[in-house]
Amino acid sequence: MSEVEALKSGLVADIESADSLDAVEALRVGALGKQGVVTALLKTLGGMSPDERLEKGPPIQSLREAVTDAIATRKAALETAALDARLASERVDMTLPAAEAPQGSIHPVSQVMDELAEIFADLGFTVATGPEIEDDWHNFTALNIPETHPARAMHDTFYFPDKDAEGRSMLLRTHTSPVQIREMLKHKPPIRLVAPGRVYRSDSDATHTPMFHQIEGLVIDRDIHLGHLKWTLETFLKAFFERDDVTIRLRPSFFPFTEPSMEFDASYSLVNGQRVMGGTDGWMELGGSGMVHPNVIRNCGLDPAEWQGFAFGIGVDRLAMLKYGMNDLRAFFDGDLRWLKHYGFSALDVPTLSGGVGA
Ligand code: DAH
Repeated sequence: MSEVEALKSGLVADIESADSLDAVEALRVGALGKQGVVTALLKTLGGMSPDERLEKGPPIQSLREAVTDAIATRKAALETAALDARLASERVDMTLPAAEAPQGSIHPVSQVMDELAEIFADLGFTVATGPEIEDDWHNFTALNIPETHPARAMHDTFYFPDKDAEGRSMLLRTHTSPVQIREMLKHKPPIRLVAPGRVYRSDSDATHTPMFHQIEGLVIDRDIHLGHLKWTLETFLKAFFERDDVTIRLRPSFFPFTEPSMEFDASYSLVNGQRVMGGTDGWMELGGSGMVHPNVIRNCGLDPAEWQGFAFGIGVDRLAMLKYGMNDLRAFFDGDLRWLKHYGFSALDVPTLSGGVGA
């Protein structure tokens, strides 16, 4: 056997018996690397006469090919084995009973958000979202709250410390109303949307937490009037509380972004001293609403002579408390597992209008 033949069978045997990818790589470097034995042989070809090259070239080339092939084959085999081992070790037995795993639950706020989306989707509304870190213009100015307006102070805004060239800071949005602006700038009317999400105000007691949830509603179209607003709110509340005897009352109020502005209340009844939504015993305040102010429509590049609309904003946490009977808002955000176990919902309990949005 020639020297080259002997080298070939030795190298191939080593490669075939290599037991790890690292070992294969070491052999590759030793043979085909810059200082490798096969590389050294290949280099000798350059110094040969044409006749000598004709004789000695083919065995050397065949050595290179045999070594390259052996490396590729061994590498593939080791990789497959490694993958098989990993798959075997990471296998999950899907037939194990779920009860043995810790079970989470859906937070009432998430559940109510899903219920709201379901109800409003049925009325033809889309669901929109916006950033929780907002700029001054979207959160205030575009909503007809000028810099000197007392409503800015009323909102107890959390500002970020950095200021831009004009001395303005970004802030945590104080309400979901800026989503109105973002959507009107993005889409041409007709617009029919709800925007649920987190909002932030520097406020904390039994009925206020620094972070809470709102849902915004916005409808922009031609010939929209207060009757549309009242019907929408009433239809929504009946579906949400799953009672036909929920009636609403609109009270004149003030919001800079609506004119006229109204707060709306829903009727409740007293059952064993507890307030239950629906009936005729009293009124529960639920949210703000009104006809979108012409300035707001104009700020979004639309002509208020052509487009009108209504908007509303409701506290989602309050809706959850009224529907599911909790009385301390702070418990919503304590992350106490006992509370979540008691008030949480099964992950499979997806609200649908046909199946009931709450029960
Ligand atoms: N943004 C108001 C707030 O947080 C709530 C609100 C009132 C929203 C009236 C509206 C509206 O869209 O029309 O207090």
